[in-house]
Amino acid sequence: MCDTCGGHGPSEAARPHVPIGGSRIVVVGKGGVGKSTLSALLARMLARRGFSVMAVDADEQRNLAATLGVDIGTATSIVPLAEDADYIEEKTGARPGEGAGGMLRLNPDTSDLVDRVSVPAPDGVRLVVMGGVRRAGGGCLCPETALVASAVAGMHLHHEDVVVMDTHAGVEHFGRALARGFDTAIVVVEPSFNAVQVGVESAMLARELGIDSLHLAVNRTRSQDDVDRVLAHVDRLGGFPFTSVTALPFDRSVVDGEPAVDLTLEGSALVDALAALASTIVTPVPLAAGSVA
Ligand SMILES: Nc1ncnc2c1ncn2[C@@H]1O[C@H](COP(=O)(O)OP(=O)(O)O)[C@@H](O)[C@H]1O
Ligand SMILES: [Mg+2]
Repeated sequence: MCDTCGGHGPSEAARPHVPIGGSRIVVVGKGGVGKSTLSALLARMLARRGFSVMAVDADEQRNLAATLGVDIGTATSIVPLAEDADYIEEKTGARPGEGAGGMLRLNPDTSDLVDRVSVPAPDGVRLVVMGGVRRAGGGCLCPETALVASAVAGMHLHHEDVVVMDTHAGVEHFGRALARGFDTAIVVVEPSFNAVQVGVESAMLARELGIDSLHLAVNRTRSQDDVDRVLAHVDRLGGFPFTSVTALPFDRSVVDGEPAVDLTLEGSALVDALAALASTIVTPVPLAAGSVA
């Protein structure tokens, strides 16, 4: 068992995963495959459809604010959760970078997390930036990861509430404490063997951690051949029973509009394909709940 977050051990593995409501989606995959782009598009698309969306940036490169289209003034004012030492200590009993001798509080009351540490993003999305996530070899990510994990897992989500978490490249940071809060993973790959290898590893790890809704998103496709090639790579790696497979086309609007996804959201083949994927994950919010798109 990890000294700081209490995770990574057999007792943690045995803990049943009990989703409380709403959808908690983690976006994983190799660096550069499009995780931040797709996280931002999904968050804003769902917000436009009446969902209440919390976007979590769990990549220390902190690209999600710019990708979501958060204005520069707000973006520079963001205090990443990992640097909000007082909040973390108040909630977990340990300051960032410190262990707590195994005494970290794992189920703190984090109902004030969104109010205290999130910033507004376009379309009503709320953004929480974790920051400072430690890498492979550093082992556990706690206490800040434990805090976000318990916040996400413990949040009483209504069915119109969605959490979308963008992650760091690779899977090494994806510990039990973090995964416990999530019920759905979008595994992003591009049409290359290396990306598919990381994607399949991510999917296996996510499944081991109790996430059973695992969607393969083949990003930047230019033809059906690209999708077929990816599926052949998956087979070559031993196969994986993905819940769904979605082709997401290369879309010039992403390049023309970057860093923000506004241009793509205005109408694009990519958004249409992503909407089809989203509809397999979340059930629509009734119009009365404020759907605008
Ligand atoms: N479907 C797409 N079509 C065109 N460009 C894309 C698409 N998806 C992502 N990109 C571009 O690919 C690059 C990497 O995307 P990014 O979301 O930053 O990847 P990651 O977060 O996985 O590292 C960015 O320049 C982004 O604009
Ligand atoms: Mg990214």
